[in-house]
Amino acid sequence: MSAAIRAMERADAPTCARMVVDSAVGLRYGFTAERMTKTLSDALYEGGDLFVAEKDGLVAGFAWADPKGAFSTAPYLRLIAVDPAVRGGGIGAILLGEFERRTSAVGRDWCLLVSDFNESAIAFYVRHGYVRRGSLPDFARPGVAEILMVKPRGVPLGS
Ligand SMILES: CC(C)(COP(=O)(O)OP(=O)(O)OC[C@H]1O[C@@H](n2cnc3c(N)ncnc32)[C@H](O)[C@@H]1OP(=O)(O)O)[C@@H](O)C(=O)NCCC(=O)NCCS
Repeated sequence: MSAAIRAMERADAPTCARMVVDSAVGLRYGFTAERMTKTLSDALYEGGDLFVAEKDGLVAGFAWADPKGAFSTAPYLRLIAVDPAVRGGGIGAILLGEFERRTSAVGRDWCLLVSDFNESAIAFYVRHGYVRRGSLPDFARPGVAEILMVKPRGVPLGS
């Protein structure tokens, strides 16, 4: 699988928002395309590090990296989503590797939160070297725990 990484542009926001809204997380949390488009557009306006993976000229997925978003010290993956039509094809691995590469200079373990019901995403992160380091019950929604997953610096980038 090959894909080109480039910075997200405002025009990409509706397409990327749809990838989140149409996911298990989006459905469970009741995200709307309008609100998610605004969230992504605001993040771009504020200078956030959002990037897309393009395959055959189309946006196939995106991620949002916050270099010190975890406890104001460690890299935090705020969002990652892939077009449902191309999931399972390696785009997620490329985006995750890009998140790790562009935040590697921070020098701390990579962090993210994933909802406990999102088993396919948890398995995906485990395959890439992330381990469970905690659980935040009822953090984003009552009855759902957010799992804190961390990739120790000793694990090779993009593995
Ligand atoms: C989690 C997510 C980003 C992974 O992206 P992806 O492009 O599917 O990831 P990859 O193709 O690199 O890896 C998916 C793995 O599942 C396997 N797989 C097979 N069929 C699959 C399918 N239909 N859907 C997803 N994964 C599939 C792949 O072979 C791959 O296995 P591997 O890691 O052992 O190689 C993507 O599934 C997604 O957008 N999910 C919805 C949004 C979401 O939950 N984001 C995370 C919030 S914390």
